[in-house]
Amino acid sequence: MKSETINHLTPIHLSKSFDGDTLAHFFFQTDKKAAALHSETPTEIQDLAKSGTFSGAAKSVFFIRGSYIDQINLLIAGLGSKKEFTPEKARLTGAMVANRVSSEKVKTFGINIDGMLKGSNKATVEAILPALLEGFYLAQYTFDKYKSQKNGNQKLESIHLVSEDRKNETWLKKIIHDALITIDCVFLTRNFSNEPSNHGTPEYYANEISKLCKTYGLKCKVMGEAEARKEKMELFLCVGAGSERESKVVIMEYTPKTGAKSAKHVSLVGKGVTFDSGGISLKPGMRMEDMKHDMTGSATMVGATLMAARLGCKNKITTILVFAENMPSGTATQPGNIIRARNGKTVEIINTDAEGRLVLGDALDLAHDYKPDVIVNTATLTGASSVALGKLASALFANDEKLAKTLMASTEVTEEALWQLPLWDEYFEDIKSQYADMMNSANDSNGGTIRGAIFLKQFIRPGMKWAHVDLANRAYDQGYLAYNPRKGSSGVYVRTFAHFAMNF
Ligand code: BES
Ligand code: ZN
Ligand code: ZN
Repeated sequence: MKSETINHLTPIHLSKSFDGDTLAHFFFQTDKKAAALHSETPTEIQDLAKSGTFSGAAKSVFFIRGSYIDQINLLIAGLGSKKEFTPEKARLTGAMVANRVSSEKVKTFGINIDGMLKGSNKATVEAILPALLEGFYLAQYTFDKYKSQKNGNQKLESIHLVSEDRKNETWLKKIIHDALITIDCVFLTRNFSNEPSNHGTPEYYANEISKLCKTYGLKCKVMGEAEARKEKMELFLCVGAGSERESKVVIMEYTPKTGAKSAKHVSLVGKGVTFDSGGISLKPGMRMEDMKHDMTGSATMVGATLMAARLGCKNKITTILVFAENMPSGTATQPGNIIRARNGKTVEIINTDAEGRLVLGDALDLAHDYKPDVIVNTATLTGASSVALGKLASALFANDEKLAKTLMASTEVTEEALWQLPLWDEYFEDIKSQYADMMNSANDSNGGTIRGAIFLKQFIRPGMKWAHVDLANRAYDQGYLAYNPRKGSSGVYVRTFAHFAMNF
């Protein structure tokens, strides 16, 4: 019996037979109800199929307590029609199964791989199984580190992938290994994003990221305010000017072990505002607590960088994370202040709540120094992103159509939708300043997501390929997808940016 454990995730074992308490069978939907079920399928399941109660419809889950077979519990779940199958359906089914497994207080859970293989082939299992595991684990996520009473004793103890065929062992191990890395990295992003800002300070993230880099063999550099000042990052520094907590720039560098000549170099950049009170342009109190999530851009890029690194990415990655706390105080930046950015351009601060673009402006300029082929950044940049797109997709901007297409191709694999919005320079007219080269906000709130992107574009040097994803509308409270928590960070786009870094 081989097992795979990563950090605090429930361990998965490969087993030839199952002696745990609940064994799951997954089926595609079929018109001829029972046809999907082969002769070895437990009679209870066949009966459910024959009566039409279970047809294999996507997301349908049945639990049969104490079956004929050795009294184990059976769980059956549908994957929907084979023709319309997408891994996302397996992800959602996995999440429904996880909820059932937890409400039935299952302790040892098996998944019948041979049954799955009988209904399909290896390629199909390769599509289903990782997604199933992702949905299953992601749905169980809780952020309970500050809860006195944890759900500990009801917890699932182990998962078993059951296959009689020993030839499947290496193949299954690889699937499990990659899926667990993916899940672990999404959890890391969720944990970072959910951390309240009294604990999740710039210094906290810098320390945590340094430790992670050490663990996974990446180089890590941390700059405090004095070093950032030497780097002329005044635009970045003006955001944390009102905070007691020191701002930090963190640079993670991943170099592939096999230095292939074809290796490319991507710079990933993330907004890391650990709390966005709005500063002197103070936000209203309603839901201000959500602004602890305003470092989700950075959290996402940390998750994506480590995921790519741990999956053996062949490209070089330089990740730049800018952490600052946006607070009002006697030393805070004020509306009307004019700040010189690292690239020499001057910015008139109109609204201290438009601070994400300030930290990112200098971070994007710094990214060029590492000479990447492309720069991709993400940020909880504008509330207007929800107005523009609702919650099903975040906005993508790119100054290069091929880069936009490559990112879109990644989203097709990961099934985390992005929607491209235009980067029309005409919008720069709205942020021209009377006193400086530009303003950080316009008098018009319509089209705010595009203007945010146009502001960032001022920090991209000629010839550099660049894309920006404004994930403010999807960073947290995305419970409409069964594998996301109802409240708190979703961890969306970690998989997409990792896939991009590995395949662009
Ligand atoms: N962090 C916010 C954006 C945000 C809003 C994220 C809601 C998640 C949920 C950002 O710093 C901000 O306040 N943006 C302003 C920009 C405006 C002043 C130009 C906004 O969206 O109102
Ligand atoms: Zn703000
Ligand atoms: Zn913000």
